[in-house]
Amino acid sequence: MTAHLLKAEIHCHIEGATPPSLAQAQAAKYGLDISHLLDADGYEWSDFSEFLVCYDAVAALFRTADDYALLTETYLGELAGYNTIYSEIIVSPDHGDRIGLGADAYLAGICDGIHAAREKTGIEARIIVTGERHFGPDSVIAAADYAKRAKNPLVTGFNMAGEERMGRVADYARAFDIARDAGLGLTIHAGEVCGAFSVSDALDLVHPSRIGHGVRAIEDPALVERLVELGTVLEVCPGSNIALKVFPDFDSHSLRALKAAGVRVCLNSDDPPFFNTSLMQEYEIASSVMGFSDAEINGMTRTAIEAAFVDEATRGALL
Ligand code: HPA
Ligand code: ZN
Repeated sequence: MTAHLLKAEIHCHIEGATPPSLAQAQAAKYGLDISHLLDADGYEWSDFSEFLVCYDAVAALFRTADDYALLTETYLGELAGYNTIYSEIIVSPDHGDRIGLGADAYLAGICDGIHAAREKTGIEARIIVTGERHFGPDSVIAAADYAKRAKNPLVTGFNMAGEERMGRVADYARAFDIARDAGLGLTIHAGEVCGAFSVSDALDLVHPSRIGHGVRAIEDPALVERLVELGTVLEVCPGSNIALKVFPDFDSHSLRALKAAGVRVCLNSDDPPFFNTSLMQEYEIASSVMGFSDAEINGMTRTAIEAAFVDEATRGALL
């Protein structure tokens, strides 16, 4: 039982946290039919590419700042309900632009949701602006420029998500240079759909303190050693990896081996309803299926907070 344990996550995409019931309510609000996106078990998609298309379609159901405030408060309220004290939310201004809302209103809505949740539950949260790799290098650079320009105190990091098979990390390195110059923490999705080379490229060209997923680093022992030496934190999302067939089952997932090798790891939900999971369930699986002790799980929560993109006073209060 992990319900009583304190929890934290540093890798959850805001639109990916949309419960199907909220998607349906949003569709009804805008007179849209989303029956093609949902079946009895939740969102309907069959591989990574289809998942990304489904994700974009769900994102298009949020059209005002208030819609995003509601989504953010719903997500953080659920987390706080099972003792989560901190979350880093991955947001993509492109999704705000694509629906005609604009990046400023998109971000303002998410900030409103964070403030409302903090007032009601005490949960602390920060925002990681992300570029979407499949929207191309120019859009990822524009996302970094936006994160820099926004000068929003809740925006503390920069990420790149999306289709890992599109281009090479070098094509996107400039975006990370902009974000680094702006003082933002850096993390990047790598080693999820693509193999160890993708993680090596990220380390060589982006120098991030964290990697989103990174679980396929296990395919290269020298790379695992490098991650240990650098102290890079892997934002591991086991339920996402099983749903997307990165590993066939939890027994063959690399989390245990990575942790045993000394890599710093933490538990995250990624896009919870899309993968039929929740942060609560990730903790439960780590305990009852993967066999981690409560002390090991508390250690992973601590790692998330140590790696969080927050000021030292906030980190100290969370630890
Ligand atoms: N990988 C890449 N891009 C994403 C993901 C993911 O798991 N979730 C949302 N965008
Ligand atoms: Zn992700």
